[in-house]
Amino acid sequence: MAAGIFVTGTDTGVGKTRVAVALLRGLAADGFRAVGMKPVAAGVDDGGSGNADVRRLAAASTVVAAPADANPYALAAPIAPHLAAARAGVAIDLDRCAAACRRLAAASDFVVVEGAGGVLVPLGERIDMLDLARRLGLPLLLVVGIRLGCLNHALLSALAIRTRGLTLAGWVANRVDPAMDAADANVAALAERLGAPPFADLRWAPGDEGAPALRGAARLFGPAA
Ligand SMILES: Nc1ncnc2c1ncn2[C@@H]1O[C@H](COP(=O)(O)OP(=O)(O)OP(=O)(O)O)[C@@H](O)[C@H]1O
Ligand SMILES: [Mg+2]
Repeated sequence: MAAGIFVTGTDTGVGKTRVAVALLRGLAADGFRAVGMKPVAAGVDDGGSGNADVRRLAAASTVVAAPADANPYALAAPIAPHLAAARAGVAIDLDRCAAACRRLAAASDFVVVEGAGGVLVPLGERIDMLDLARRLGLPLLLVVGIRLGCLNHALLSALAIRTRGLTLAGWVANRVDPAMDAADANVAALAERLGAPPFADLRWAPGDEGAPALRGAARLFGPAA
């Protein structure tokens, strides 16, 4: 059975796509069939080029997925997903996301799912990103953008994941601020408080080609329901 992971982050713009791409490249280098999925994307270009994250995940995947499976919800407005969904007159259905994930899992060894924003981002009146992770049955990988405020954001995210009974499979330190003072000490503080060293510690590297292949990630994944 295929395995999957749900890549979440301490905030929007902290490197979830960069890490998801790096995981896909690493799995491919390790000899696996791997496919990316972005269940809910908010911000779709009218010119037809779609959503940038969906494009980058597809480019790093070794399995060609049906667009509606790789991205069940492509919402036009680049705003919070539940607001973008409301504006489009759409209700996000977690079962539809789960069915798409199952189809991807059936055609691959690993599915790398990217959330949107952080762990408690609403997806509808009563559902949020952690409900989606739960419905997909996946453990989470937390991408921490290493910048001032990241300790609080990371520890709150981990607390939410664990309080909701979900599995935090690991975390990635992503050095998004080259000028940050005491960045190493922040990473060390997180390793101590999260209970594990980071699976990867990504240096600052501007540009969207900056993601290295992350090898040996398979152990983080859980069975895709
Ligand atoms: N380690 C890094 N060094 C330099 N720039 C980075 C690094 N990680 C990410 N970035 C840049 O920060 C921006 C946001 O990264 P990315 O798109 O991966 O974040 P995200 O969490 O997926 O965002 P979103 O919430 O929009 O999905 C991108 O322009 C990316 O190139
Ligand atoms: Mg992204």
